[in-house]
Amino acid sequence: MVMEGMAEIGTLIAFIGFSFSLLGAFTTIFSSYAQILNAIVGASRVFEVLDQKPGVDDRKNAPAMPAVDGDVIFDHVDFSYIPERRILTDNTFHARPGQVFGLCGPTGAGKSTIINILTRYYDIENGAIRIDGNDVREVKQDTLRIQIAQVQQEPFLFSDTIMANLKYARESATDEECVQAAQQANAHDFILQQPKGYHTILVDGGTNLSQGQRQMLTIARAIVANPRMLILDEATSNVDTRTEKLIQEGLLALQKDKTSFIIAHRLSTIQHADQILVIDKGAIVERGSHTELMMKKGFYFDLYMSQFRGKLSGIVME
Ligand SMILES: Nc1ncnc2c1ncn2[C@@H]1O[C@H](COP(=O)(O)OP(=O)(O)O)[C@@H](O)[C@H]1O
Ligand SMILES: [Mg+2]
Repeated sequence: MVMEGMAEIGTLIAFIGFSFSLLGAFTTIFSSYAQILNAIVGASRVFEVLDQKPGVDDRKNAPAMPAVDGDVIFDHVDFSYIPERRILTDNTFHARPGQVFGLCGPTGAGKSTIINILTRYYDIENGAIRIDGNDVREVKQDTLRIQIAQVQQEPFLFSDTIMANLKYARESATDEECVQAAQQANAHDFILQQPKGYHTILVDGGTNLSQGQRQMLTIARAIVANPRMLILDEATSNVDTRTEKLIQEGLLALQKDKTSFIIAHRLSTIQHADQILVIDKGAIVERGSHTELMMKKGFYFDLYMSQFRGKLSGIVME
């Protein structure tokens, strides 16, 4: 049209310019479209998870669990995740308020399962689990779980300030109580070394801290919460010996006056326990204090000696 004199050369240049903007816009739209498709697929997975029913339901009008003292009874408990595949058989024990119970045994023996049914993430097949005389099936689940502090293998922290993470366990806690808890958990010193101390924001759930430090923070948080019962799945993480010692001290402070269940991979962490339960293939095969079990020269003794030898020959145990 320009050559035939039907349009100005300026119009052509403007036309070319505008076509490029249009092309750019289309490219953006189509690349967003691909992202939207991805998001739709992702969202459907997320909703699948959100729609999942909890493993067990509360009984209709189940009462709240009263403030517990920490008396825990396993009364001839049998349990299976899948029908016909028995995991725990005839587990019986009685932990009195304030006692420390250590759980040990080979991988897959059923240690974590005992904790899962104590907090009623699953219902048992036979027998009963009673806390202060209340069957765990008869009370509202959340009112039970809130009274049990759990320190997990993978420390969970929020992307918020260190102080907020400590207070998360108990909103009414004062700053002083949180600092005190951090001191008991041996976390105070490294917290002060952070750029803004207690007001340092944890990036991405704490990636700006080492794993050992994250663990000490979760211990401090459990000290702030101060419930009557404590569950601890010992970390297998490879922290240096000095950090490990600091963590151990924090854990001891945490266990004070609480009925505690400690799943130990390193037997040294449960030597002080009032009672050690040795679990094998879902059964309690031995029980007693460290000294008693060592004298028995049975399963526990063998487990202990093999770890001890491993340590001597420099092998890092699980
Ligand atoms: N959610 C589950 N569904 C089915 N089987 C499971 C589940 N969790 C654990 N198990 C099985 O239960 C047994 C005990 O596991 P677990 O309690 O985790 O052992 P431990 O903590 O002593 O290593 C194992 O055989 C394991 O495969
Ligand atoms: Mg386990």
